[in-house]
Amino acid sequence: MTSPRPETLAKLTPVLTKRWLSPDAWRIGTYERLDGYAALRKALKAHPDDLIQLVKDSGLRGRGGAGFPTGLKWGFIPQGDGKPHYLVVNADEGEPGTCKDLPLMTHDPHSLVEGVIIASYAIRANRAYIYIRGEAVHAARRLRNAVQEAYAKGYLGKNILRSGFDLDLVVHSGAGAYICGEETALLDSLEGFRGQPRLRPPFPATHGLYASPTVVNNVGTIASVPYIVAGGAAWWKSMGTEKSAGPMIYSLSGRIANPGQFECGLGITLRELIELAGGMQPGHNLKFWTPGGSSTPLLTAEHLDVPMDFEGVAVAGSILGTTATQIFSDQDCPVYATYRWLEFYHHESCGKCTPCREGNYWMVRVYRRILAGQGTHEDLDTLLDTCDNVLGRSFCGLGDGATSSVTSSLKYFKQDYLDYIEGRTAPRLSDKQLVGA
Ligand code: NAI
Ligand code: SF4
Repeated sequence: MTSPRPETLAKLTPVLTKRWLSPDAWRIGTYERLDGYAALRKALKAHPDDLIQLVKDSGLRGRGGAGFPTGLKWGFIPQGDGKPHYLVVNADEGEPGTCKDLPLMTHDPHSLVEGVIIASYAIRANRAYIYIRGEAVHAARRLRNAVQEAYAKGYLGKNILRSGFDLDLVVHSGAGAYICGEETALLDSLEGFRGQPRLRPPFPATHGLYASPTVVNNVGTIASVPYIVAGGAAWWKSMGTEKSAGPMIYSLSGRIANPGQFECGLGITLRELIELAGGMQPGHNLKFWTPGGSSTPLLTAEHLDVPMDFEGVAVAGSILGTTATQIFSDQDCPVYATYRWLEFYHHESCGKCTPCREGNYWMVRVYRRILAGQGTHEDLDTLLDTCDNVLGRSFCGLGDGATSSVTSSLKYFKQDYLDYIEGRTAPRLSDKQLVGA
């Protein structure tokens, strides 16, 4: 493991992660001692519209993957409509490789609870939900405990801190379906239905939970809000880039010496992130990587200096997504990695629309054939043709995302496919594994 140079170390900007290493940071007493709930006291003295404007001015963009401007989304909530408003936190973090929201909720759940209260006050919601992934049992326990502590201290419930504002917060555990991370499937699941995406528009901002105006925001987005209230928009914008403001938690995994979460201003490069993570594992050279989870097109060693912000990654032909940076080396096979991701999408496809349901099923079968040494050159055209019929024709982003690694691995690593097809690489799957897709 190599140590990062001081100038690279200086690129770490611990904001959302700053309390993670403090002992018992998840308890309300510790949180309060470390400035917790001070932003809420400040926010409750402001007009809700001024808070929305503050978040707009900060340039905060959604941390769940799409990067939609948060203040703009809050501003879509109609006011004076007589309907209840809801805030729903998407804590269903399920993108392969993504691991930023679960550690946040485990180490510092009160920062999310505080963000929920401020955001609900801003959009005039009196009921909020945190929809957490079913498998995240420990994080859910920590969150429920934090909610109870917040009620006991008067930060939740009736007349919060004598402001006249009421809020109830419910932590709801999902049942472990990846599709329930799609915001409208999440809302269906929360209402007690089978989680499947709804047609958009209308967007949840006007027709969300129980057909009422609803803001759905990711954990990292909402947990950013107390810091913006405390530090101001200009301070937030002093980190990151002009269009991608603020710090971001990058979760690094794979062939690096020290995997984990690294919080840096948006726009850091993979070269710098690898340096922060102690370099590549001995004997491994970077071959390919995902900038934001398996739904984002693969990049290669040529892209080490691409700024990892929403714009920079797009220019390089990929998507920043969830900043789940999975790093693969020359000892890893892009064909096999893509096959494993496709297995995931095939398994998680909700089955509502034909392109995704059938396309993933057939692509898994083609990959198995190639990896079993029985592929043909036509299989590569079949894969691209199938992607053409899935991308842009699927009902939700899951179908589109499934094609990302297929098309990008064929773009950059066609030779690896040909090596299986032409017998230069030994088969990775047995004949037995060909069936049962
Ligand atoms: P999107 O761009 O369609 O929407 C983003 C947000 O903006 C949504 O909340 C949507 O309701 C809102 N919005 C967009 N246009 C609007 C309008 N005209 N009026 C009102 N609201 C509007 O993106 P989507 O499909 O919600 O999310 C896709 C992203 O999710 C991908 O970039 C992917 O990286 C990420 N993702 C994250 C996962 C995770 O575990 N965090 C898992 C899988 C995907
Ligand atoms: Fe369901 Fe896939 Fe269609 Fe999305 S794209 S609605 S997950 S079948």
